[in-house]
Formats: sequence, C-alpha cells, structure tokens
Amino acid sequence: MRTHSLYPVTVLVLALAGCQPSAGTGTASASPAPVAAADADLLARGEYLVRVAGCNDCHTPGYGEAQGQVDQAQWLVGSRLGFHGPWGTTYPTNLRLRMQALTEAQWLEYSANLRTRPIMPDFAVRDMAEDDRRAIYRFVHSLGPAGQPAPDALPPGRTPPAPYFGLVLPPLPGAGE
Ligand code: HEC
Repeated sequence: MRTHSLYPVTVLVLALAGCQPSAGTGTASASPAPVAAADADLLARGEYLVRVAGCNDCHTPGYGEAQGQVDQAQWLVGSRLGFHGPWGTTYPTNLRLRMQALTEAQWLEYSANLRTRPIMPDFAVRDMAEDDRRAIYRFVHSLGPAGQPAPDALPPGRTPPAPYFGLVLPPLPGAGE
C-alpha cells in the first residue's frame, strides 16, 4: 500500500521538471503527453457543459422531446422554434456555423461580453469561467459546420409563423384603463 502513496509525488516532480526545461533535467519528451491530455479534457468538458448547461435545450431541434437522445452530429444547429415576447421573436442561433466563423480568441472576447435579446441566457455565458467558455468553443468547433442559419429575428409587434413559444405578460400598471 505504501508504494501507492509515492506515485503522486513522482508525478508532481516530473510535472515540475517539465515546466523548467532550462533546468537541464532532460525531460523534454515528457511535455507532449500532458498537452494532449488537456485537449481531450477540454473537449470532454465542453461536451458536458453543452449537455448540462441547457445549450441543447434551445439550440438543438427536438432535444427536449427526445429526452436528450439526439446524435451529436445534430447538436446546436439552431432552431426554427421562435421565442415571441415584448422583444419580438428570436430564434436560437446555429452555433455550429457561428463557431466556425470565430477564432478561439474572438470567441473568448465575444462570449465574455455576450449581449443578446431574450430568451438567450447571455448572463450565464458571461458568468462562465474562461476555461469553460474555451471548452465549449473547442467542443462545438470540433463538431464542424452543419445545418442552415436560423431565421432572422422579427421586430416587436409582429406575430411570427408557427411554431413559436409566446410569452404573455400582464398589462403595464395604468395601461389600457
Ligand atoms: C432558453 C433558450 C436558450 C438557451 C437555454 C440557450 N440559448 Fe443561446 N440563444 C437563444 C436564442 C433565442 C438566441 C438568439 C438571440 C438573439 O437573436 O438575440 C441565442 C443566441 C446565442 C448566441 C449568440 C449567437 C450570435 O452570435 O448571434 C450564443 C453565442 C449562444 N446563444 C450560446 C448559447 C450557449 C453556449 C448556451 C448554453 C450555455 C445557450 N446559448 C443556451 C436561446 C437559448
């Protein structure tokens, strides 16, 4: 059992040595493996975040109806199911196409300051740690482009074609009396 407890210490020493090539310890060959592992971790984390943070709920057609059993090839292609309210009608963007049009650096800047119309929870994306936003980019970008752009948003006061979710709010106090 004691031999097991030595293992993490050995790994730590190797990792530190790998960070300091100038120390002349000859461990240059140790660095590619952690980098590859980090890439795989980011992809897996991105897939996980997209699945549990709700992105598929709106951006992937039929995701809720299928209880999440939608092939990844169909994920995040945007939706023709509109969200209609006082802001007009918005359609979940095709993120597969959007991510291809952005570099990772552009996405990190853009997502940190994301401002959209409802019903997109842009605040949730802004609040994500940079590494989580990076993970989402890596994963969605790795899926490649797919699908067509979502319909353009409609201005307030226009009734959209079906299908759409409609948000009906109570009249403003004092209005219409
Ligand atoms: C409740 C539905 C909903 C959820 C959940 C949701 N989105 Fe959206 N998203 C939308 C809608 C609708 C738009 C279009 C907003 C507009 O037209 O202003 C949008 C737009 C966006 C945009 C802007 C695209 C562009 O450049 O025009 C990004 C980026 C985005 N969503 C990413 C995400 C990510 C990442 C998640 C998961 C963390 C997510 N969305 C979850 C509905 C949603």
